[in-house]
Amino acid sequence: MNLRFLSTPSGTPLANGRKLSHSPHMQINTLIIGAGAAGLMCAAHSGPKTMVVDHAKAAGEKIRISGGGKCNFTNMYAEPQNFLSANPHFCKSALSRYTQWDFIEMVAAAGIPYHEKTLGQLFCDTSAKDIIKLLKTEARGADIRLNTSVEHIAKAENGFDVALMHEGKLTSVSTANLVVATGGKSIPKMGATDFGYRIARQFDIDVLPTRAGLVPLTFGQDIMEALKPMAGVSLNARVSCNGAAFEEGLLITHRGLSGPSILQASSYWHEKDSLFLHLEPALDIVQALKDQRQQAGRMAVHTALGAHLPSKLANYIIEIAGLSGNLADQSDNDLAQLEAVLTELEMRPTGSEGYRTAEVTLGGVNTDALNSKTMESRTVPGLYFIGEVVDVTGWLGGYNFQWAWSSGWAAGTAI
Ligand code: FDA
Repeated sequence: MNLRFLSTPSGTPLANGRKLSHSPHMQINTLIIGAGAAGLMCAAHSGPKTMVVDHAKAAGEKIRISGGGKCNFTNMYAEPQNFLSANPHFCKSALSRYTQWDFIEMVAAAGIPYHEKTLGQLFCDTSAKDIIKLLKTEARGADIRLNTSVEHIAKAENGFDVALMHEGKLTSVSTANLVVATGGKSIPKMGATDFGYRIARQFDIDVLPTRAGLVPLTFGQDIMEALKPMAGVSLNARVSCNGAAFEEGLLITHRGLSGPSILQASSYWHEKDSLFLHLEPALDIVQALKDQRQQAGRMAVHTALGAHLPSKLANYIIEIAGLSGNLADQSDNDLAQLEAVLTELEMRPTGSEGYRTAEVTLGGVNTDALNSKTMESRTVPGLYFIGEVVDVTGWLGGYNFQWAWSSGWAAGTAI
């Protein structure tokens, strides 16, 4: 137990000098820390005497802002291979017992209108608030306390003693089960903290190193000088990194590269790795240029390429390929060189935009420490970890909420 303020035994002073034994006391069955996606889902299934606490002013804040306010709440094609984890098998049990179809059924039964945007991604037609309302309704049996911080946690004989602080008032709670659903470190200004990892460490549960995932990537000065004038340019690209490849939109920004294909690849990227870009993979651009060379040989090569790519990007690609002049000036070798740049453009990021803008946090509570059916700690009975705090991270496209629903359900029904 390495956190003093988390391990103060009941009856002894807390960090602020107050004594837990003087505060009102409650006996409950389940305390869930975090009223986000996983915590609310768990509360909907965890039975009587469940309390959910969150230091935020409102429940489900990340749900509210997700999917541009429309919440990409699941993905029709969700499978274990859409998730990253040191143990790729861990997520299988929960995902197969509470599937995307179970959540879709709940959404449909509530009469929430939704649609598929692309690639199996389901979004609300109206507002992400519909999902928050649904979860709150499902969890109506639970006592949800917002603006409430956890002052300390101590192991008791039959569970845990927890001190809660709300508007300067302490409450002590004895609970048989403690569920940690505090999410990852992404978007600290929305209340994200490393609290879940600290609770794990307090109980000697291993936490794997964390890093930002689904995040825009940044580049060194030389590449940025070329990219900045192209900020706003978007196109389709197949982006490969460390054996994973994603064919989706790519966006050039003032800070580097973004867009779905880059966000997806970012979860596979580690320092010093390169990305390989195939620009507009559905088009055979070089064959089109060869055909044009016959009919319009006098056209400048950058103008010809500009018919297939945004013109600023076309100019940049022509420069990298070392071409100049008209189409008629280009030999087959020159066009092969251009093809290599268009299909295998190597770019080496220097970093990412970090937790400030990342959609998720990779790494976290080591799944080796948890039971995959229940999410319960193997060493501390009654202690559960669910959602993003666990080392299971989904692709972009509704997968991370599905993990929150499935893992929250697994813990809730096991309690
Ligand atoms: P979540 O972050 O939802 O909840 C954690 C809760 O714990 C929060 O309410 C927080 O306030 C609380 N908490 C933290 N520290 C605490 C402390 N010390 N004391 C008390 N409470 C504490 N995924 C997806 O599938 N589809 C999508 O469309 C999107 N879109 C999206 C957009 C943006 C901008 C972001 C940042 C993320 C997404 N995601 C997403 C990812 C998704 O939001 C995320 O994976 C889930 O919300 C994770 O659910 P959890 O319940 O684990 O954490």
